[in-house]
Amino acid sequence: MRVIVAGATGLVGSEMLKVLEERWPAGTMDLIPVASERSAGREVFFSGKHVRVVTMEEALGLGAEAALFSAGSAFSWEWGPRLAEKGVRVIDNSSAWRMDPGVPLVVPEINPMDLKKDHFLIANPNCSTIQMLMALKPLHDAWGLEEVVVSTYQAVTGTGRKALQQLEDERMARSCASPAYPYPIDLNLIPQVDVFLDNGYTKEELKMRQESQKILHLPVLRVSATCVRVPITGGHSESIAATFRQDVSVEEARLLLGRMPGVSLLDEPEKRVYPMPLYCRGKNEVFVGRLRRDPDHSRRLHFWVVADNLRKGAATNAVQILEFIRAQGWI
Ligand SMILES: NC(=O)c1ccc[n+]([C@@H]2O[C@H](COP(=O)([O-])OP(=O)(O)OC[C@H]3O[C@@H](n4cnc5c(N)ncnc54)[C@H](OP(=O)(O)O)[C@@H]3O)[C@@H](O)[C@H]2O)c1
Repeated sequence: MRVIVAGATGLVGSEMLKVLEERWPAGTMDLIPVASERSAGREVFFSGKHVRVVTMEEALGLGAEAALFSAGSAFSWEWGPRLAEKGVRVIDNSSAWRMDPGVPLVVPEINPMDLKKDHFLIANPNCSTIQMLMALKPLHDAWGLEEVVVSTYQAVTGTGRKALQQLEDERMARSCASPAYPYPIDLNLIPQVDVFLDNGYTKEELKMRQESQKILHLPVLRVSATCVRVPITGGHSESIAATFRQDVSVEEARLLLGRMPGVSLLDEPEKRVYPMPLYCRGKNEVFVGRLRRDPDHSRRLHFWVVADNLRKGAATNAVQILEFIRAQGWI
């Protein structure tokens, strides 16, 4: 299979190369790495070979069957429909197409049925949304989800290379030529992820609400998020309070989460076993722990969810979508 990875020199794109290498036997995939003019001509290492990075214009004539995009929304607006019209299956990591009613927004463990043969443009959800829904889905299936209140603790890699550079510069006491954030991030927390909207929420917080409603097919689901940037290099964490239509039990929640593909339960508080971002790096699973029933509300469960934002939050989920399409015989 011949696959374009657009944004191949960025944080998500580099992780995509690793995930593809891990999951596709060497020699079964021809990679076409794409980046902007700035990086064209450089090389990336894939499946034991150096592969030259090209621009999208050059890639257009190279006969790709699928494309994984992680080069920002402007790139996706321009190139997504162009490639899709040529019959290339485009899996887009940006937020450009996620809420378009004609574009499926897919987490393969949750709503693969939304992906149909005639879909050529497919959206990958926001990293924070994916890991939250991986934990909520089996609980929702059992008890019926009514409301979610979530606070996130998001690593700087969620913003891209520039943010990682800012954190490294601050830690080395170097001046940062082009900071990603309006404040220092080291030794700090920034209660703003993406831009503010008129209602006081940020765009990231709105994405968590709207994307959850779309993926779970619950158009009036109540979701209120507070998204916070934290000075760690990888792994997003979330504190979630979920209210259901029925009474909840921690024991049953543990069973349900234990059976959910892609979820790993780490919940033995007496042994200090709970998920932490340092230990999720490079892993594809979503880790869940700290399960508690609300002391004042028998239908409310509290828990803690951690995942590698560059893996299940971006690259792994996109590659799983590609695998699903391939398994259906659509490529
Ligand atoms: N980081 C995350 O956790 C995460 C999670 C989910 C989704 N996403 C989304 O994934 C995308 C990339 O994020 P990132 O963190 O990987 O950012 P990044 O580290 O800043 O990398 C951006 C990549 O896009 C390429 N690019 C930029 N403009 C381009 C253009 N006009 N034509 C071709 N390539 C271009 C860059 O190439 P050059 O080397 O040429 O600059 C680079 O490879 C964003 O849309 C982001 O919202 C990120």
